Amino acid sequence: MIIIKNPIQIEHMRSAGHLLYDVLQYLASNVSPGITTEDINRMADEMIRKNGAIPSELGYMGFPKSICTSVDDEVIHGIPSPDIRLEEGQIISMDLTLVKDGWQADSCLTVPVGQISDEKRTLIEVTEQAFWEGWKRALNGNRVGDISSAVQMYAESRHCGVLREYTGHGIGREMHEDPSVPNTGIAGRGQRLRPGMTLTIEPMITWGHYQCHELANGWTVVTNDHSPAAHYEHTMVIRKDGCPEILTLPDGGARGGRA
Ligand code: MF3
Ligand code: CO
Ligand code: CO
Repeated sequence: MIIIKNPIQIEHMRSAGHLLYDVLQYLASNVSPGITTEDINRMADEMIRKNGAIPSELGYMGFPKSICTSVDDEVIHGIPSPDIRLEEGQIISMDLTLVKDGWQADSCLTVPVGQISDEKRTLIEVTEQAFWEGWKRALNGNRVGDISSAVQMYAESRHCGVLREYTGHGIGREMHEDPSVPNTGIAGRGQRLRPGMTLTIEPMITWGHYQCHELANGWTVVTNDHSPAAHYEHTMVIRKDGCPEILTLPDGGARGGRA
């Protein structure tokens, strides 16, 4: 069941989303060779709590940390550890969900560690642009499949792989609500989008083949061919007219991804 939010509820989600943006920017500014993913976890956890919110990934289905940190061929759900020290040339995705005043916000950024290869830079660029291609089609009256097909067509046109098993999702009082928002699909199919629907679009994109597997820790998802992967995610609300407001960006996405 899709839960439509009213303007007061949206304002709560915007407040949670803007805090999440600040946290992710702070973390991104601290990513550098030599820090560990546990350092990132600690910074995230502290900043979220100082601002009166709670890291909602901690304990979610038993997840042991407050943020997902996925390095290079790790696509999603990487577990922060004092043993994982970042090295120049790597890329790291930081996927973070928090809850403030009972309302969730979910966003993910993939950032370079120092200088990275042209291939990894392109991968990050393709992943972000795939997001914006989906966002542009998240319009009142369109269907979920319009988002999915736009994400897939763009990423595949750039010869990248698109994960099948993990998807975007509705979000609100719960981290995961209906509908599921896949990154592959067929335009014109799926649930119809309506104003007040709040959801995430979150392309998980690989430089090589999209097939992946879960490590023995029960969480970390890694590409089978060990090609690097990137992940980009925002929480948004469908509007009556025009593209969605992005609740996890301070300008609501007014620039549509253009710098
Ligand atoms: N933030 C993730 C998402 O985009 C969920 C993380 S799974 C968890 O849906 F176990 F880490 F919480
Ligand atoms: Co997320
Ligand atoms: Co999500």
